[in-house]
Amino acid sequence: MRRPLIAGNWKMNGSKADSVDLLNGILAGAAEIMRADIAVCPPFPYLQIAEQALGGSAVFWGAQDVSNETSGAFTGQVSAQMLADFGCHFVIVGHSERRLFNAESDDLVARKYAQAMAHGLTPILCVGETLEEREGGQTEAVVARQLDAVLQTSGVDGIAKGVIAYEPVWAIGTGVTATPAQAQDVHAFLRGRIAAQGQDVATRVRILYGGSMKPDNAQELIGQADIDGGLIGGAALKAADFLAICRAG
Ligand code: G3H
Repeated sequence: MRRPLIAGNWKMNGSKADSVDLLNGILAGAAEIMRADIAVCPPFPYLQIAEQALGGSAVFWGAQDVSNETSGAFTGQVSAQMLADFGCHFVIVGHSERRLFNAESDDLVARKYAQAMAHGLTPILCVGETLEEREGGQTEAVVARQLDAVLQTSGVDGIAKGVIAYEPVWAIGTGVTATPAQAQDVHAFLRGRIAAQGQDVATRVRILYGGSMKPDNAQELIGQADIDGGLIGGAALKAADFLAICRAG
């Protein structure tokens, strides 16, 4: 039985004061949520606030990206060791916004994944197709390619130590959610691909759905056999909405 995970990706939103408010709002309701793990991923500058607010609670925190390098002359990058220093449990790698706006390749994402694991962080690997790719019948080929890059670098044992998030690019921030059946199909495909290399890992690894998940559609999505929670963007910026999704988990 896989324990659901609801992770909030705050993206590049909010201020210091907003972050404190949001964290306090989440903390106020989190203790009642027993059936799911909860995590938040604020922007880098607010990780210390997250550590201060959430330390000692059941809510995990993490970052939205990590360098593939260990340390050194890499201006503007943040290492896995630094994230570990701030108590991060999770780190998102390969989000489609980074693949698109920062030209991150499958290979770079795979190296970030390995770097995160090497420092004891749990990577959340994002995969997902664009609308054009879906319409061209390429969905499975795209997510397979993105998954395989990590399987080749970190092996199925590496997949066992992380979390996967299926995020169809066309559903992110658009209000258009994948139907539960569309999402379930891709989740089952991903799990099957992992099973080919390790049935045990496939049974245990959590695969989240992301893309316009809201309080009113979360339950049906998470109710699908292979959907183990959500990676939430817009709805993670309001404590009440985020907590409602956590309760649906
Ligand atoms: O990482 C989160 C996803 O990109 C989903 O964002 O819930 O705003 O569609 P969204």
